[in-house]
Amino acid sequence: VIIRRSDYRAPDWLVPEIALDFTLDAQSSRVRARLSVTRNGAHDRPLRLDGDGLVPREVLVDGRALNAADYALEDGALVVPLTGEKHVVETLVDISPAANTQLMGLYASGGLLCTQCEAEGFRRITFFPDRPDVLSRYHVRMEADRKLYPVLLANGDPVGAGELEGDRHWAEWNDPFPKPCYLFAMVAGDLACNADSFTTLSGREVKLGIWVKENDLPRTGHAMTALKHSMAWDEKVYGREYDLDVFNIVAVADFNFGAMENKGLNIFNSRYILADPDTATDMDFDAVEGVVAHEYFHNWSGNRVTCRDWFQLSLKEGFTVFRDQSFSADMGSPPVKRIEDVRALRAAQFQEDAGPLAHPVRPESYMEIGNFYTATIYNKGAELIRMMALMLGEKRFRQGTDLYFDRHDGQAATCEDFVRAMEDGGDIDLRQFRLWYEQAGTPRVKALLAHNHASGEARLILRQTIPATPGQPVKQPMAIPIRIALFDRASGKHGGDTLLTLTQAEQEFAFTGFDTPPILSINRGFSAPIIVETERSQDELAFLSAHDDDPFARYEAMQQLMVNTLVGDVAGHPLDDAPVIAAIRDTANDSALDAAFIAEAIRLPSESYLGDQMAIVDPDAIHAARDRLQAKIGKALEPLWRDIHARTEANGFSLSPQARGARKLRNAALAYLAGSGAADADDLAFDQFDRADNMTERQAALAVLSNSSGEKREIALDVFYNRYSGDALVLDKWFQTQALAFHPDIVAHVKELAQHKSFTLTNPNRVRSLYGAFAANQWAFNHKSGEGYRMVADLIIALDPINPQTAARLVPPLGRWRRFDVERGEMMQNALKRILAQPGLSKDVTEQASKSLA
Ligand code: ARG
Ligand code: ZN
Repeated sequence: VIIRRSDYRAPDWLVPEIALDFTLDAQSSRVRARLSVTRNGAHDRPLRLDGDGLVPREVLVDGRALNAADYALEDGALVVPLTGEKHVVETLVDISPAANTQLMGLYASGGLLCTQCEAEGFRRITFFPDRPDVLSRYHVRMEADRKLYPVLLANGDPVGAGELEGDRHWAEWNDPFPKPCYLFAMVAGDLACNADSFTTLSGREVKLGIWVKENDLPRTGHAMTALKHSMAWDEKVYGREYDLDVFNIVAVADFNFGAMENKGLNIFNSRYILADPDTATDMDFDAVEGVVAHEYFHNWSGNRVTCRDWFQLSLKEGFTVFRDQSFSADMGSPPVKRIEDVRALRAAQFQEDAGPLAHPVRPESYMEIGNFYTATIYNKGAELIRMMALMLGEKRFRQGTDLYFDRHDGQAATCEDFVRAMEDGGDIDLRQFRLWYEQAGTPRVKALLAHNHASGEARLILRQTIPATPGQPVKQPMAIPIRIALFDRASGKHGGDTLLTLTQAEQEFAFTGFDTPPILSINRGFSAPIIVETERSQDELAFLSAHDDDPFARYEAMQQLMVNTLVGDVAGHPLDDAPVIAAIRDTANDSALDAAFIAEAIRLPSESYLGDQMAIVDPDAIHAARDRLQAKIGKALEPLWRDIHARTEANGFSLSPQARGARKLRNAALAYLAGSGAADADDLAFDQFDRADNMTERQAALAVLSNSSGEKREIALDVFYNRYSGDALVLDKWFQTQALAFHPDIVAHVKELAQHKSFTLTNPNRVRSLYGAFAANQWAFNHKSGEGYRMVADLIIALDPINPQTAARLVPPLGRWRRFDVERGEMMQNALKRILAQPGLSKDVTEQASKSLA
């Protein structure tokens, strides 16, 4: 069944109140639900309550029990004819958390009972109109064994608790804010609490709790700090205060996604809560901070103002990603954060936009909404908000968001509502800009700069094209904000940064006062999520990589310099490597730059980014070319790498920006040394591995050794495994590092790892750490034998009956078959066909595989 945005209709029945009563047990939990329902408008349609796998044991209307003949079950939903305007409808069901391997609804994880309802998991707990525009006040009663489940948590505020006979106990929670059922949450288990508090701007004291397994308590400090910073930041930057007396976070080991913003009770994948220097890398620390902020920010952008329907998902996700990105930038280095975000956007969203699963930020249709938690909804959605913020400027953007929150507080809103609030509050015309929500595909902008010596005029000609995407063969020109600057070659300076708005297919912009042809710095700060094509020479790029005062543009010039060299090599017309080597040397030696930026700027583009620059991807040639360039840079600058590696060795661990930058640069230097083929490279890596007092350096050294064919590889892997065999999150790194390696036997290694005793299909983190990483290793996954495709298809087939959402997330890499040679393309298509031929395939995997093949 295909659901369409154009089919939206307001709900037939509203549910202003719901009382839930849980008798909890891992094998079989009893759920009694009492819904007060009111007819919405004049109609004679029955009440339809969604259900998935539920059997009604009792159905009561206004206290009177119905016979089975008085209601119907349709596609799992309970259909109850009602005559009046208001009724109380009660249902009773039994569900089994222990048997719930999908991890949607109420499930068991490591001795805990927990829930995940977004998008449509609530219907696996009780019968209910499972759509985001039905908002209810929740009252929840939980009863459970006191020894197994001493802690009982739900949304809102605790309103009562007590002991019961037979070593059981109960608790009641009340959430005063009406919410859609996807924000419902409940946790029962033996949990320890990192308790703290936060006083809001208006003086309200909020009790904060981060609940984890007792052993994990020492690893919750960073998440708590991030939470308090997030609360203060949202007050300062958006004027948004927290609204309940308690805010709880629970970490669970088995979780399909990153985390979930349930009202007052966020539930997290433990990898985004737990962090300490011995087990988490600097990137992990940042991810914890970013995800804690993301879920907290949802309290306003998502919960107080929610989505009318799931086509509006980016309303909350795009905006909240923009908010968490801005927060992380403020907590650390804005330039480095922007570089990381753009790299992630290009790797995930640009690829999605260029393939068979491309869809608009506001999609028109879906089969399974679980497949639409995509980089397009999240990351491209965030870029749309960023472009509006840029065009409006800080003050008017804030006026727009204030109006949005005021106007829609307590409502289920649309993307259109957001854009209108920007227009009304910020005083701007966004008519053409709305196309960004409608049209899929990454715009390409070709930039030509012409110079007239006589008049001193520079003319910039911009041409935009938007590629055809599934269902959208023809596109209209979009409104694209592009920041540029024109550099004077002699002084290395420019006369000011200009924001242009490209609105036509082709447009010309004129600038005066240039005696000599200026050099174009374009899409500064990555002002728009587009692909820019310029005709800048290697010399001009080298100039920008030394002089551009916009850090993103400077990084980009370096990357483009390297891309040109590598693509030239693959295409058989190599360029001179000297400008690349010189730019890397000068950047690394530039004392005005901080170490973290240097580490970003000198890093080679990934193999998959290089593949994205080519019509047909040749994974072996790309791998070889990148290896060659890495070796050349490694050898040509060997003394520099040795010097950096030696002088960045820290004396004691710190999380200061300087210490983190030093680690990043140290790891980059080690990678170049290893790439150079230096005889002592493995020894240096092993020494770093062995002596490091932090995971950032230890894992980077392990990654270097994983590529090696020397004897140190296995020794390091064994040491690492034995040291961390009791720690699931670190074991994930052990799997992931090997799956991302460039080792001649990589395919065989991954095959062995899939049989390893620590590998399991029931934990999504573990599945992703092996197969997600392997599928992202372009060279390994696309091995010409087709083994990579076979392995991933086998995994999807085995995982689908257990966890269809996680299985479906591994399909997209197989959908890239048009981008490869005929032989590879056929093997990928065969893998997709084999998946589709499985009997009883989930709609999650069916949608992804059939669209990928089409
Ligand atoms: N709303 C959650 C977040 O972004 C993610 C929920 C994911 N749900 C899903 N069905 N994929 O913070
Ligand atoms: Zn989110």
